[in-house]
Formats: sequence, C-alpha cells, structure tokens
Amino acid sequence: MKIVMLGAGYVGLVSGACFSEFGVDVTCVDPDEGKISRLNDSVIPIFEPGLDDLVRKNVAAGRLHFEASLSKCGAKVDAVFIAVGTPTRRGDGHADLKYVYQAAKDIAGFLTPDHFTVIVTKSTVPIGTGREVAEIVREANPKADFAMVSNPEFLREGSAIEDFMRPDRVVFGTDSEKAAEVMRALYRPLYLLETPIIQTSLESSELTKYAANAFLAAKITFINEIADLCEKVGANVQDVARGIGLDGRIGKKFLHAGPGYGGSCFPKDTLALVKTAQQAGSPVRIVEMVVDINNKRKQSMASRVIEAAGGSINGKKVAVLGVAFKPNTDDMRDSVALDVIPALQKAGAIVQAFDPVAMKEAAKLLPNVNWMNDTYDAFEGAAAAVILTEWNEFRTIDFDRAKSLMAAPVLVDLRNIYKPEDAVAAGFSYTSIGRGAKDRLSVSKRKSA
Ligand code: UDX
Repeated sequence: MKIVMLGAGYVGLVSGACFSEFGVDVTCVDPDEGKISRLNDSVIPIFEPGLDDLVRKNVAAGRLHFEASLSKCGAKVDAVFIAVGTPTRRGDGHADLKYVYQAAKDIAGFLTPDHFTVIVTKSTVPIGTGREVAEIVREANPKADFAMVSNPEFLREGSAIEDFMRPDRVVFGTDSEKAAEVMRALYRPLYLLETPIIQTSLESSELTKYAANAFLAAKITFINEIADLCEKVGANVQDVARGIGLDGRIGKKFLHAGPGYGGSCFPKDTLALVKTAQQAGSPVRIVEMVVDINNKRKQSMASRVIEAAGGSINGKKVAVLGVAFKPNTDDMRDSVALDVIPALQKAGAIVQAFDPVAMKEAAKLLPNVNWMNDTYDAFEGAAAAVILTEWNEFRTIDFDRAKSLMAAPVLVDLRNIYKPEDAVAAGFSYTSIGRGAKDRLSVSKRKSA
C-alpha cells in the first residue's frame, strides 16, 4: 500500500514512520525544504524516544520518503493523511484551520478520476471539518474519486511510538465502506494484535478525540482540586488517588496531582471543544471550568515557591529543575514553566534552570534565565529549588550534595517525586502537592470550637 502524510511535524512524522514500519510505502510531505533535506539525512527535528532509529531503518528499507511537495509523490496513492498543525486561533480559542484548508486544496490538485484515494484527517479538527474538506476537494476537482475518513491520533509525547504500535484502540469515522476497507488494510498489523478498532461516522470520530482529551484534562483537574483539599485537611492525595483509582470504573491513570496540565493537546483541545460546544448551543460547562481552573492553577504555582522560601525571593537565586511540559520531550508548549519562571522573575528572583533536553526550545521563550549545565549547577547558591518536570534524573538527587550547594535547603516538589519524610530527614524544608500536614482540620476545628 502507498500513503502520503501531509505535515512532517510531530503527528505526521511519528505516524508516517510507524506506518512504514507496518510495511506501507510512506511519503511525508512538508513545505519546509530545510526540514525535508535534514530528514533525508535522518536528522529528526523533534525529540521522541526511538523515532530516529525507526526513521533511519525505514528510509534504508526504501519504505519511507520525504518530499517538499505533494506533486512529487507519484500516482496511485491509497490514502493521503492530513497531519498539519491546528493551533489555537489568536483571540477566540477556536482551532485555526488554515493549514487544513490549504492541504485540502493541494489534495484536490493531486487526485485523479481513475484512482480511488482516501483522504484522512489525522490532525485534531473541529467537528464538521471532514465534510468541509470533502466539499473543498469536490468543488476544486469534481471528477476526483475519493472518500473522507477521520482517524484521530491518541499519541502521547515521549511514548508516541509505543502508543501507535500498541494502542488501546483505533478510531476511524467514515460514510464509505470502500474507504473503511483501505483503513482496515492499513491497520492490519493491529487487527492481528486484536486491538479494538472502532468504526463510526465522521462526526463521532472527530468528537471522540476532543471528548477523550477533555475527559483526561478533567480527570487531572479533579485530582488537583482534591490535592488542594488534602492540604487543608491533612490528607495525602497519593493515597486518595490510589484508593479511588483501583475502582475499575475510575481507573488509576491520570490521577497524578501536579502544577496543572500543559502540552500541545490538552490546553488547545479543551479550549476548542468549549468553543465548538458554545457555537452548537450545547455548552460543556464542566470543560469550561476545567480550562479556567487549570489556567489559574498554573499561574498560582510561583507563589508556592515564594512562600516556601520565606515570603520573598527578591534578589535571591532560585533553581528550576525541568522546563518541558513533561519528561521525555523538548516540547515547551503550554508548559507550566512559562507561567512559573516569569512570575518568579517578576518577584525579583534570579532563575537558574536546567532541563536535560528542552533548554534550547525554552531559551527562545524565556528570557533572562541562567541555563545551567546540570542539576547540581542549578542548586549553586539557590535560596530554593523547584521541580517542575519529573525527569528521571531528578528522582535521584543526592540531597547532601544539593544542600551543601544551596544558600538554603528549600525544596518545592510540584511533581511529588519524593517522599516528604525522606526530604525532611535529609534536612530540607519540603513542600509538595496535596500531602498536607496531619490532623490540620481537627486542630483548626478544636480551635474554632
Ligand atoms: C495527550 C494525550 O495523552 C494524548 O492521547 C493526545 O493524543 C495528546 O495529548 P501529551 O500531551 O503528549 O498527550 O501528554 P500527557 O502524557 O497526556 O500529559 C499532558 C499533561 O498532563 C502534562 O502536562 C502532564 O504533566 C499532565 N498530567 C498528566 C498530570 O498533571 N497528571 C497526570 O496524571 C497525567
């Protein structure tokens, strides 16, 4: 089989490389000629574990190609995937579809009447976009023989290849049985692994993606609010999360309390769902709340650091460990670091930060930060240290060494990677998320009685 992936960004590149690993002939197309020539030399523009090996292997096997234009892709393509960006449109929160519409026009010029081709939206697109794309193509090329499919991705950065190769499910939506056959053939290796494959209408498939991300964002926001309550009443959010998560109806994943979710998907997709639902006259108020609570949470995190450092950080050094929105990625999109670091600087702190891979990206977005060579450099002279991203190497900090380097032994662990008793035993003043002082409620109750 032969497919084209329009867009060699995160989704297009991972999906293209994985389909080529399934044995499909794949051409990834991206207008950025520099990127294409680097990809042809197997230089991967993003950090994703395992991706460079997968690309190299399939390029060498002659199954994976890169081109700067769709017109160079040759004839008789079974499917063209649209995997271009759908960023948040400035000002109103809607998904910006200009790249999707451009892709539709390019595809219209590429299709012929003598060969059936499936057009697949892989980008996260608002409900109704699949039909819009079909209209654009039909208008521009009435004789084209094609059918539309929506096939959302559920790839997590950092484990995207595993997520593609062993997904919980594959969802695709289409009105065309002929197109469904092409999709089943493309995902054949997953059928053999007995992966559930859900076939729906175009609209249901498009909404499934938004609903999945909004649900997960709500789950995180729920546990974050429970964490705040834990702090007030002297409970431990990790125990509560375990206690509820083992109920199979709830599930234990995505119950890690933290500084608020970030990344390229949850913030953008929750906002787009809110807008779509408002427009449809059926608002999703729970998601509106989630968006609002999460934004405020991220903005409030710097004050935890300031409070832990004794109320003022003016003129003091603060060590920031991790700036990527999560480990195993260099992605800075909507990372909590973009809220915390400027707020610390505004309060007068000198920020010295270290991240194993994201510093190059971060430096473009965060001015006046001292980027350090390693974890311990960041501790040097710091009046407080804050863990923003739970990279593995931050899980094994030598507390004695860190303490000897710092101006004051203050650790703010916004990812709960340490046990409070261990940090305290090592001589740190330790603050984390949702693991409050014991019996605080009963004490305050007695006082007010
Ligand atoms: C997400 C979805 O998981 C994926 O299915 C979708 O296709 C794209 O969006 P991703 O953004 O790569 O993937 O990261 P994810 O691991 O889901 O984490 C998103 C954010 O939530 C991160 O900021 C992370 O730190 C935060 N998070 C996640 C929590 O705070 N607690 C959790 O329990 C899980």
